[in-house]
Order: sequence, then C-alpha cells, then structure tokens
Amino acid sequence: RLLIIDFGSQVTQLIARRLRELKVYCEIHPFNTVDDAFLAEFAPKAVIFSGGPDSVTRAGSPRPPASVYELGVPILGICYGQQAMMEDLGGKVHGGKISGGGGTAEFGRARVTPSEARIGLLEGWFLDGPEQVWMSHGDHVARLAPGFEVYGTSPNAPYAITADLERHFYAVQFHPEVHHTPNGATLYQNFVRLAGFAGDWTMGAYREEAIAKIREQVGDAKVICALSGGVDSSVAAVLIHEAIGEQLTCVFVDHGLMRKDEAQEVVGMFREHYNLPLIHADEAELFLGELDGVSDPETKRKIIGKLFIDVFQKHADEIEGVKFLAQGTLYPDVIESVSFSGGPSVTIKSHHNVGGLPEKMGLKLVEPLRELFKDEVRALGRELGLPASFIGRHPFPGPGLAIRCPGEITPEKLAILREADAVYIDQIRKHGLYDEIWQAFVAILPVRTVGVMGDGRTYDYACALRAVTSVDGMTADYYPFTHEFLGETATRIINEVPGINRVTYDITSKPPGTIEWE
Ligand code: XMP
Repeated sequence: RLLIIDFGSQVTQLIARRLRELKVYCEIHPFNTVDDAFLAEFAPKAVIFSGGPDSVTRAGSPRPPASVYELGVPILGICYGQQAMMEDLGGKVHGGKISGGGGTAEFGRARVTPSEARIGLLEGWFLDGPEQVWMSHGDHVARLAPGFEVYGTSPNAPYAITADLERHFYAVQFHPEVHHTPNGATLYQNFVRLAGFAGDWTMGAYREEAIAKIREQVGDAKVICALSGGVDSSVAAVLIHEAIGEQLTCVFVDHGLMRKDEAQEVVGMFREHYNLPLIHADEAELFLGELDGVSDPETKRKIIGKLFIDVFQKHADEIEGVKFLAQGTLYPDVIESVSFSGGPSVTIKSHHNVGGLPEKMGLKLVEPLRELFKDEVRALGRELGLPASFIGRHPFPGPGLAIRCPGEITPEKLAILREADAVYIDQIRKHGLYDEIWQAFVAILPVRTVGVMGDGRTYDYACALRAVTSVDGMTADYYPFTHEFLGETATRIINEVPGINRVTYDITSKPPGTIEWE
C-alpha cells in the first residue's frame, strides 16, 4: 500500500482519488501523525508528499520524519512536498518574493517543457510538445539536492520536474492530481508502476482488509450502530456484521418521519435478509408528540436531533458490554485534515444525528468506511450483496419528512405527503429518470387552495415537486423534466392522492435555494 503524507493541501484527497482510480490502495495520514514507528508499522511500498500551505523556509515548518528517506521505497513530492524533500536532502528553497527581483510565485496554468532525457515517470508525457500543468506555489526550489536532475521546466519553475533516479525520488512543483493538469493521471500511473504496484486493488480486497481490521479493533467487545436505512450506515452495518456477527446490534430509530413503507422495508431487509440483530425503536408517537404545534424549522431539527440521541442511548444502555459505536463516516467527512485547521490537530467532522454520542457514552468509534469515497461505498455495498436498487437510493435527510412539511406537522399531512411522494417517485422510476437525479421528493405546502373535481368544489393542500441534479449536495440545479412528464405526474397525484388538489414544480437552484424546503 501507498502512504500519502498530508502537509495540508486543499487537494490531497484528489491524490487518493487518482490512485484509487488506478486500483492502488493508499491512505492519507497527516504529517504530524507520521513518525518512525508509524512508518515501520505501515511499511509503505511508496510514499507521496502532498502539497501544503506552509513555507519550508520557515523554521519549524512541517517535515516528514528523516527515516522516510531510508525506507528504500520510491517517493513523489508534490509542490510543498517537493520543497520539503529538497530542503531535507540538501537542496535549497527560496521564498516567493525575492528582494529586488520579481517574485517567482505562480498560481494557475503553466506549460512545462521537457529536458532532453526522458524518464519512466514521464512516459506518455510531452508527446505533443509542452504539457499544461497547474501551479500553485509561493516558494520555489533554488538549488537541487545532490543526486537530483531536472526533467521539465516552466517559465517560473526551472525545477518543475526533478528526480533522483537512483533512489527513485521524484519531485514536481505542480499539482498532477487536479483537473487542470490534464495528463496528471498518467504521471501517477507511471509512479505507481515504477513503485511496483500491480494495480489490482479491488473492493473485494478492501472488504477482506476491513473485516480483519474490525476484528482486531473490536476484539470480543460489543458494538452498536444507528442504522438509518441510508447507504452509508447500511454498508457499514453489513460489513461489521460480517466481521463480528452477533457482537453487533443495530438500532433503527424510527421517528415516524420515514417515507411510505420505508421503515418496514429497512427492518425487513436487515432482519430477514442479513439476519442482523436489529432493534426497531418505533418512537413515532414520541417524536410527533414533541413536534406537535411546532412550525419553526430549526426548532423542529433540534427536537428531532435531541430525541434521536435520547432514544438511541436508551436502547444502547440496555445492551451489556458495549464499547464501540459504529458509524458510516466517509472519507470526505474525515479529512478536514491539516488543510483547514492549519495546526497540528486534525479536525474531524462528527456525523450528523449521533454527533456527541461517543463522548457522552464513553464509546470508541468503529468507522470502516472512513477511507472511502461515496462511489466506493456503493461499490462495497454491491460487493456485500446489497440490492442495486437500495445502493442507488437518493439521499434522505436525518430529520426525514419533517423538513418536507413546512409549518406544523400533523399525521394527516404526513400521510398525504407519503402517498404523493410515492406516486412521484414511481413516475420518475417508470420514466427511467431515477438514476439521473440526485434527489427527488414532494413537499406538502402549508396552504389549501380551491379546486374543482367532478362537479364539486375542493379545498385541499398544494404540494411542490422537487428534483435536482448535484455532485455532492453542496450546489444543485433543478431537473429539467419535460412538460409532458410534469403534466402526467400532476394528474396522477391529484387523482390518486386524496387531500391534494394542486401540484407545483420547484425550479429553484441551490444556491440561492436549498435542496430541502427547511
Ligand atoms: P440542503 O437542504 O441543505 O441539503 O440543500 C443538502 C443535502 O443534505 C441533506 N440534508 C440532511 N441530511 N441530515 C442529513 O442527514 C440533515 O439534517 C439534513 N438536512 C439536509 C439533503 O437531503 C440534501 O441531500
């Protein structure tokens, strides 16, 4: 496996991403957690130094442990990583602003031209002349460390590509992992080939490794897991169950705000199909009771969050010998890394819903997905045999239908909402659009409007359909349904769902809107 030492670049995750695409298993570890003992234990087959915001010219700036250079494995330094390598090995780095002369800081696209000699790292590079790369550096290497040669230069980076071929140390000033270095993946491919990786890492291998790790971490202690029915917690639960069987108990906190038939489906699937010890905490009455008469969105969320923790804790307390809490934390949640905190401590985002629980209950965390990206979690889910329809499900928010029911929540409104949502999703599936859409749902509006059906006057709720495309939920565009689709769907909802007599389509993007209505 390959070790990425993170010096705090905003794009370190993308290095991992590129390597995973090459089917090479890698892990990112912040520089301040990598010491001699760690290196000996990790035993990397190759090491990459990421970029970072600091300046190696500053006393006390982050460095890898000196022993990394003695491992006898290939090393690739990127940007700050290049500069750290040069300083460590006897070269010289200058600050960006040179008094008297112009700065050599460089931000943005640059073109790198090759030197005469061609090396393995650059196979497939410079085929059509200079390569476009993405630079983002203040400092620059002023003198190479002994043993290094230059293999590529840009106008502001005479040492854009450097290498000590004997020791297999490579160092580049630009960022090959970003999109703006179009041929960057080739460079990583060459590096891992030179390092002897076969490129055969698969989800099957990950599954085996993860299971071994879970067993080692947990021993014979018990683990609890809040199962929401979402993809992440489900994959985590199934994986952990495979590792430790009955030592795992899942608690499904049913707040009565799930979609039509959803609670039964989740419980049925995990109990029957996976034989997973599952407590179905049916607390709809409790949640809906506390939410009665509440219409402020933040108050709703707070009530649900607090009750969730109370209920979960109550059930967890009843199980003897629980030492661990399992969470479906994903890689992007984990490494806020040194990037954002800048300091030696790593900020870790706590999972929604159960945030704060581990400390409160004195539990340690089991997070078997923390190395994975979302699409990798889906692949692992497929590997574990979770049904494709389940893995491809749209995200569903922790507070459930509460935030799709602006204003006061009543059992009547929830019932209408569930039916309308089911018809809408059925339409989307029938038209083969489900997988193109990031998220689709109905919100029931707190207004009644007048209509006419048959010979009679109606006075029923209006609803809004929402469907968006998105990559990560941070920004979103409304989905451009055809008018035929919208018309057909509106007709079906009004005909099939008593209580709704008007259907609207929400065409707000995010920003300025949010995906959910509350
Ligand atoms: P917004 O509405 O903020 O939503 O644009 C972005 C994404 O996050 C989901 N969401 C939540 N997920 N707990 C969750 O697990 C929550 O409290 C929550 N609020 C919003 C939302 O469904 C969308 O995918």
